[in-house]
Amino acid sequence: MTPPAPLPVAPDVHLVRSLPDGGGPLRVAINSLVIGGEEPVLVDTGAATGRDDWWRQVEGLVAPVDVRWIFLSHDDADHHGNLFEALERCPRATLVASGAIAQRLAAHRRLPLERCRWVNDGESFAAGGRDLVAVRPPAYDAPTTRGLFDVTSGVYWAADCFGLPVPHAVDEVGQLDPDVQVEGSLLWHRLLSPWVVDVDPVRWTAAIGRVAALDPQVLASAHGPLVLRRDVARALDLLGDLPGMPPAPLPGQADLEAEVAALAALAPPTPA
Ligand SMILES: [Fe+2]
Ligand SMILES: [Fe+2]
Repeated sequence: MTPPAPLPVAPDVHLVRSLPDGGGPLRVAINSLVIGGEEPVLVDTGAATGRDDWWRQVEGLVAPVDVRWIFLSHDDADHHGNLFEALERCPRATLVASGAIAQRLAAHRRLPLERCRWVNDGESFAAGGRDLVAVRPPAYDAPTTRGLFDVTSGVYWAADCFGLPVPHAVDEVGQLDPDVQVEGSLLWHRLLSPWVVDVDPVRWTAAIGRVAALDPQVLASAHGPLVLRRDVARALDLLGDLPGMPPAPLPGQADLEAEVAALAALAPPTPA
């Protein structure tokens, strides 16, 4: 299999990619972002299981010693997987995140608070000449979640939002069958944020409208292909269908037993 390579998103902005085999017909990416320029920014740090590939891609874009900011969207393991190593290898970097992150990561390790900067929803910070605005995406699975809008490039890092299980690797959603996007988006967001089926549609529309108001050039998700400008309105419209839908179907014990049996059938015979 070809090792993943960073995908250019905009001038000085690259998606660091991984598409682990999910064991089924659909696969979910684990992406992060590198913003270059005067003060380079790592946006999320991938999963520890993909550590070598993650560092190989990152170091091809920026020398760790030059990194000035590490933005952590939230405290899930597929986003902070290389955080503590990055803090060691990027000694000039400040960690930017929600103020609740230190407490929620304390079970892993203590954060160096003197190297942290807290941003609440709607607050911004400047990385060199770039204004970066923390904007919470409408769908999320951790209360610390912050997305990040790069005003210079128009790229919006949506954290887990706009994730999409895919049958094969693609760069952007326009390369997929439209039905795959519709079904995948409706399933993904109900799995990510099960409460979405119960939200008030008016308030939900307002939450989606906050992303629309950014007028993003690109939506970049940790868990799906890029959404380019021509497809942004469609991706936002799909979110609007979620309130009132039935909960997402979840696998049960019979599904688990079938999966275990299928894996056992694939395993090589044990020598006698
Ligand atoms: Fe998450
Ligand atoms: Fe995630």
